[in-house]
Amino acid sequence: MRYENKVVLVTGAGSGIGREIVLRLTSEGATVFGHDRDAERLAETSAMAGGIETRVGDVTSPEECKEAVAACVAAHGRLDVLGNVAGIARSEHFLDVTVEQYRQMMAVNTDAAFFFCQAAIPHLLETDGNIVNIASNAGVMGQAYTVAYCTSKGAVVQLTRALAMEFIKTKLRVNAIAPSGVNTNLIKGFQFPTGADFSLMQPYMGHRPLSEASEIAGLFAYIASDEARSMTGAIINVDNGVTAG
Ligand SMILES: NC(=O)c1ccc[n+]([C@@H]2O[C@H](COP(=O)([O-])OP(=O)(O)OC[C@H]3O[C@@H](n4cnc5c(N)ncnc54)[C@H](O)[C@@H]3O)[C@@H](O)[C@H]2O)c1
Repeated sequence: MRYENKVVLVTGAGSGIGREIVLRLTSEGATVFGHDRDAERLAETSAMAGGIETRVGDVTSPEECKEAVAACVAAHGRLDVLGNVAGIARSEHFLDVTVEQYRQMMAVNTDAAFFFCQAAIPHLLETDGNIVNIASNAGVMGQAYTVAYCTSKGAVVQLTRALAMEFIKTKLRVNAIAPSGVNTNLIKGFQFPTGADFSLMQPYMGHRPLSEASEIAGLFAYIASDEARSMTGAIINVDNGVTAG
């Protein structure tokens, strides 16, 4: 029960990794506030967790990021942990990426994390709280056919490190998890573009099966707990060795 009396805001709570984080943390006593744009799936997560406060919204709106944090604090009186989990992924030939596709990728994966952090940090400073961002192995290595996704996740890695340094004299901690393939809806919907050269992708396809979202949730539960109080500015790979060699 590491999370008794702790309030945790999780984005992307309607599916995959976000849902598993909600279930894991509530099982450890947390009061979780779930956020997602998908009302139906968010309601499912809430029911699975025994009933949690939720808010349906689009994280690409900086105002929504701010209002979601305010709604969480209004509902529960405090904020101890922010989990920036909502994300999208696409595979495309770099030369085909449209302005709209690029902006959407950055808005969901990078800008939302930035603006959620900005809104949450004043509250987290009051509770000696912490932030866990879900980055990706695509944020720490170059990959063909996912240039926009890599760009967005590389920015999450640097957001994590830079925030950790700006607040190093406080008790705020900021960390990121960098998974490779995880068995969720995101990966199920992932399609390589026509004409992709698969030999380019060999180095990061990995040799082992996909991870399960519950594994990422287990690591999240450790990093965001008081047991990890010396951990800040860390980018933790959970990637079946993909970035090891
Ligand atoms: N699945 C993988 O292989 C993998 C690998 C590395 C990193 N990640 C990262 O993990 C995070 C979670 O992904 P997942 O695999 O659980 O995917 P998922 O598709 O199962 O869940 C993502 C959730 O984010 C929500 N979301 C997307 N856009 C939104 C928006 N504009 N506003 C509000 N909510 C929005 C979706 O509705 C969905 O519920 C993402 O940041 C993803 O990039 C996933």
